Amino acid sequence: MTRPLEDRVAIITGASAGIGEACARAFARAGSKMILNARRAEVLSKIERSIDTEMGVETAHCVPGDCADETVIKMMLQSAADHFDKRADLIVVNAGRGLAGSVLTSDEGEWEEMIRTNIVGASKLIRIAAAELERLDGADWTQRPRDIVVIGSTVGRHISPFSSMYGATKFAVNSLAEATRRELAPKGIRVTLIEPGIVTSEFQHVAGYDPSRFGEVMDRMGPVLEPEDIADLLVYTCSRPARVCVGDVVIRGTRQDYP
Ligand SMILES: NC(=O)c1ccc[n+]([C@@H]2O[C@H](COP(=O)([O-])OP(=O)(O)OC[C@H]3O[C@@H](n4cnc5c(N)ncnc54)[C@H](OP(=O)(O)O)[C@@H]3O)[C@@H](O)[C@H]2O)c1
Repeated sequence: MTRPLEDRVAIITGASAGIGEACARAFARAGSKMILNARRAEVLSKIERSIDTEMGVETAHCVPGDCADETVIKMMLQSAADHFDKRADLIVVNAGRGLAGSVLTSDEGEWEEMIRTNIVGASKLIRIAAAELERLDGADWTQRPRDIVVIGSTVGRHISPFSSMYGATKFAVNSLAEATRRELAPKGIRVTLIEPGIVTSEFQHVAGYDPSRFGEVMDRMGPVLEPEDIADLLVYTCSRPARVCVGDVVIRGTRQDYP
C-alpha cells in the first residue's frame, strides 16, 4: 500500500519536542524521510533512534543547532541529499517559542531571542528553502509536490493582550507565509500556514506561563489540542495532489473560544 508521504524528504525544525516531534513521528509512518533540527542534540538523537527503530530503516537524521543560523540551515538541506540521496521537498518551519506577558509586562530580556527564533529563523529558512525547491522544478511539477509549511498561531491572527509580544512575532509569520505563497504559487510551490490554538507541549513552560493561571484556562477551554492533532493536519495538507494548496488553516480545541 502506498503511504501518503512516500518518497518525500522533509526538513523539520523544532523537532526535539511538541509539534515538531509529533510531525517527525507522523511523517515517518506516512513514508517520508527527514532531517530533524533543534538545539538539544541529545534529545534529538534519541528521537532519531526511536524513529529509525520503529521504521526498521534509516528514516531520520539530525542536524542540531540554532534554526536561525544560516550554516545550520544549509547543512540541513545538504544532509537531506547526502543521507537520502534526494533533495528535500517538504520544509516545516516550526521551531519557535512563546513569551508570557504583553509589550508592557513581558520580560524584555527575552525579546531578542524570541524575535530571532520566530521571525529571523523562520524567514531565513523560508528564503533558503524556496531557492532549493525552485531548483527541483522538473518537467512536470504536478507530479512532484513541493511544500513549505509554516507554523503560525491563533495569536498571530487575533490579538491576545496576554502574550502580545509573542503574538506580534506570529503576526509577522502570518504575513511572511502569505506573501511567500503569492510569490511561489506561479512556480507550483505550495506554502501552507497552520495556525494552532493552545497545544499541550513544552511551549507553556518555555514561555513562562504562570501554571495556576494556565490551569484555569485549561479548566475553562480543555481538552486542548495535542501535538499529534497538528501532525495529522500536516500529513493531510502535504499529501494533497500537487495542484491543490491548502493555504491557511486555523485549528483549535473545540472548546477554545478565543483567541
Ligand atoms: N503549544 C502551543 O500552544 C502553540 C500554539 C500555536 C503555535 N505554536 C507554535 O508551534 C511551534 C512549536 O511549538 P511547540 O508547542 O511544539 O513548543 P515546544 O514543545 O516548546 O517545542 C519547540 C521546539 O522548538 C525548538 N527550538 C526553540 N528554539 C529553537 C532554536 N533557536 N533553534 C532550533 N530549535 C529551536 C525546541 O527545541 P530545543 O529547545 O531543543 O532547541 C523544540 O523542539 C512554535 O512555532 C510555536 O510558536 C505553539
